[in-house]
Amino acid sequence: MTITLPDDPAREDVLASRPTLWLNTEYRNGSINDAHLPVRPQLVDEAKANWERLAPLLQTCFPELVASGGAIRSDLIELTALREALGYGSEAFGRVLVKADNALPVAGSIKARGGVYEVFLFAESLAIREGILGKNDDIRKLSEKDAKELFSKYTIAVGSTGNLGLSVGVAARALGFRATVHMSSDAKSWKVERLTKLGVDVVQHQADYTVAVENARLEAEQDSSIYFVDDEQSQQLFFGYSAAASELAEQLQALGIVVDAQHPLFLYLPCGIGGAPGGVTYGAKKVFGDNVHCFFVEPVESPCAMVHMMSGSEELVSVYDVGLTNRTEADGMAVARMSAFVARVMRNMLAGVFTVKDADLFRWLRLSHETQNIRLEPSAAAAFAGPDFIVNHRSGQRFCQQQGISDMRKATHVVWTTGGLFVPQDQYESFLERAVAA
Ligand SMILES: Cc1ncc(COP(=O)(O)O)c(C=O)c1O
Repeated sequence: MTITLPDDPAREDVLASRPTLWLNTEYRNGSINDAHLPVRPQLVDEAKANWERLAPLLQTCFPELVASGGAIRSDLIELTALREALGYGSEAFGRVLVKADNALPVAGSIKARGGVYEVFLFAESLAIREGILGKNDDIRKLSEKDAKELFSKYTIAVGSTGNLGLSVGVAARALGFRATVHMSSDAKSWKVERLTKLGVDVVQHQADYTVAVENARLEAEQDSSIYFVDDEQSQQLFFGYSAAASELAEQLQALGIVVDAQHPLFLYLPCGIGGAPGGVTYGAKKVFGDNVHCFFVEPVESPCAMVHMMSGSEELVSVYDVGLTNRTEADGMAVARMSAFVARVMRNMLAGVFTVKDADLFRWLRLSHETQNIRLEPSAAAAFAGPDFIVNHRSGQRFCQQQGISDMRKATHVVWTTGGLFVPQDQYESFLERAVAA
């Protein structure tokens, strides 16, 4: 299908693969309470409660979580030397912080918040259904022999560009499930190797992410012992991510950072299919209301959320439909078609989307390393363009005007860095070298 995008200030740029900022003309205050949405805000509180209930089991399965009492949390880091290096030294940018999911334990990326959550909730519901876990039982029973025996009869399957597969695979194997990960052709070989070492079956497709997910879904439909984690439709993944917002709120409060109408909060979130950034956005809207503005970021050749949301179409529009290639080194964001579920929920809730070039990803990755020792993979560096787009770009300035934001010095920008902890050293060094060559 070929699509003509409607008239929009960002249209020419997106079609020519030039970095740009698109503002969502359907962005509305209070949209989280819209009755027509398929999800409800109280599910964010439920997700937080679910994480707390699972914490003792998580701590048992993953010793690296002992210090946090079973919570999968990341730091909120104030930018200092990196702030200068990025050109954000002026007070015009307000506060600039990094939410360091790149160092998230267990899976090394934001995907730990979704994949681990869904697998552990499935384990709990299966054990209750099969009479292994009673209402008042200690959740740690799920790490014992009877539960492991039950889980070993089931396979958890998922389609992934890499990191979701890692998080689902790690979680599934920790509980004793079998696991199959369908990888797209973009998946990095070190991610495949890491999963294989864990005993995960990896199926490598010579096709893009959408095809990998379709294959995984088809296989699961034919076998009742397969539980499919559906990245295109899963509400559990979405709400697992959403719980990050209350964690962020606690951290901002601890730093004495106020979020209100005069002190708006801007979140910049790398987007693949949209589940992780969508879930965080939804949670943030629940926690901070109209005082938070969330922007997705995508590679110039894979802006699936930008083209679909700009099109205004009810049918999903892919990047191929507008002549883009979906070719990028940012494997986590190499997605041609966004989730229909996320698109629907974000329609009035997402402030906008901006795009970045691969060469900039490597440059920011290197700057992060050199200045503040922050270890990133390319996808995870994408959000650093956010403050520049909002403060310096014409569309960003228009956005602030429309929102009645008169003094950006009082704003807080949170750059979500989404993965990198497990990147092998040789691969990491090649990323650093690429930045020099660029
Ligand atoms: C490092 C990283 N950042 C961001 C994303 C985007 O998440 P989503 O596909 O849920 O939009 C991914 C997805 O795999 C990722 O690996």
